[in-house]
Amino acid sequence: MKYTLSINNRVHQVEAEPDMPVLWVLRDLLNFTGTKFGCGKGLCGACTVLLNGQALRSCSLPISAVGDGKLATIEEVDRIAEYKKNAIAIKQAWQDNNVPQCGYCQPGQIMSAIALVSNNSRLDKQAIKNGMSGNICRCGTYARIEKAICSVAG
Ligand code: FES
Repeated sequence: MKYTLSINNRVHQVEAEPDMPVLWVLRDLLNFTGTKFGCGKGLCGACTVLLNGQALRSCSLPISAVGDGKLATIEEVDRIAEYKKNAIAIKQAWQDNNVPQCGYCQPGQIMSAIALVSNNSRLDKQAIKNGMSGNICRCGTYARIEKAICSVAG
């Protein structure tokens, strides 16, 4: 099937099976390799992208379910008007707080953080913890992630 996708406010046309996960459309067909594969089962959050402002697991999202939705990925999320301010602030906070260790899960962490901050006008520590609980980090950078989000959302 042919699909026309809006990714980072640009139009991309791809040919794929309807059940192909967006993760593999992004990585294998369009070379958006910033979105990572972790578990492939919707459990770790490494593959998180934004679809119409919501953080979703792209490993569990078939291309046929995207329709005319707007996808955003780690590569260019800070170029998109509705996310720009928070995306730049979150990425800066990640640097200021030296958040990453091995770094593998961090694109997914950052995309979830951008959605969390963009969709909530106020966030306390518990709300940040709850909002980020679906993103797993094997290095255990959770305290720095929460501190970074707090510095943007507080
Ligand atoms: Fe998608 Fe783990 S790779 S949630």
